[in-house]
Amino acid sequence: MSMSFDFTGKVVLVTGSSSGIGAATTLLFSKCGAQVVVTGRNQQNISRVAKECAEVSPKRLKPLEVVAKVVLVTGSSSGIGAATALLFSKCGAQVVVTGRNQQNISRVAKECAEVSPKRLKPLEVVADVCKEDDCKRLIASTVKEFGKLDILVNNVGATKSSNVYDDNYLENYKWNLNTNLDSVVYMTHYSVTHLEKTKGIIINISGVKSAQTSRGMSAYSMTKVAVDMFTKSIAVELADKGIRVNSIICGAVKTEGLIHAGLTQQQSDATFAALGAATPHGQPAKPSEIGYAVMYLCSDEASYVRGSNFVVDGGWLAANTTYLP
Ligand SMILES: NC(=O)c1ccc[n+]([C@@H]2O[C@H](COP(=O)([O-])OP(=O)(O)OC[C@H]3O[C@@H](n4cnc5c(N)ncnc54)[C@H](OP(=O)(O)O)[C@@H]3O)[C@@H](O)[C@H]2O)c1
Repeated sequence: MSMSFDFTGKVVLVTGSSSGIGAATTLLFSKCGAQVVVTGRNQQNISRVAKECAEVSPKRLKPLEVVAKVVLVTGSSSGIGAATALLFSKCGAQVVVTGRNQQNISRVAKECAEVSPKRLKPLEVVADVCKEDDCKRLIASTVKEFGKLDILVNNVGATKSSNVYDDNYLENYKWNLNTNLDSVVYMTHYSVTHLEKTKGIIINISGVKSAQTSRGMSAYSMTKVAVDMFTKSIAVELADKGIRVNSIICGAVKTEGLIHAGLTQQQSDATFAALGAATPHGQPAKPSEIGYAVMYLCSDEASYVRGSNFVVDGGWLAANTTYLP
């Protein structure tokens, strides 16, 4: 007995249609005239199936290709980076959670999967972004897993303070440069070819110290100034490639950053309380308040925002606030 189906004019969406049963089902609907949606996590697989569907479709209907945005946030195992990865997950993105500590990465990745509408599991990568080879590997594994890269958030950054006359100044200077600047440059350089394909976005996380002096912070401040200037310069260079670049100048954000820099929990709490009190807003930012700014800058609504050093500091710089510990 032969059967013929006609689905002309019907729109069919099969989740997981980039492979296996989903792909076969979608191909059959295409053959029978339907307008199909091919979706999954890997752009390469989606495009392969979409091409086959168009070939078998009686009217050569081109399928709609739907895939989650792929977002790589460096330093996403803690603080601002973790909050940003969580917000992107909540909004349906496919995220990469990365840092140097597997346990912290897995904890954040689990939270991301829990808030993801489709329970998308993040890719977990242990990598030290101060090392060029680790940056290459981090980007290569992202593209291997998901087939593309849409958004790169260069968030890793930390402080080791010392005065220019201190014995350890040069050592700390090199450390700050490597952690806060080299990492951003390496990640950006090796991402460009992938971001060009997706007309992607780069966000660099900077801070108010790029605009203010503070005792013992000259090395850190210089790196953040450089990040802001790198942002403006490459926003111009990459505009022709369709890549949008901005940085965010953060004020005080209550994270474990100071504990990671060697302070006790008590000292960190006291410092953030004092920083908050010195801010016109009266309190330090929550990490998610920076995350939302990242989301805005990555949205289509921010299409005209390019090469900006976007200030999210609770009014700190506007008030010429200084904080002397
Ligand atoms: N918090 C603030 O008040 C504030 C203010 C202005 C600007 N910022 C900027 O905001 C960014 C995030 O700061 P945060 O406060 O969220 O810091 P955080 O809580 O200490 O988080 C830093 C993240 O970066 C990772 N990381 C550090 N060094 C790394 C390396 N070499 N390779 C790979 N991953 C590394 C850490 O994980 P592992 O250590 O496990 O690798 C962690 O996931 C930084 O650029 C910072 O300068 C923060």
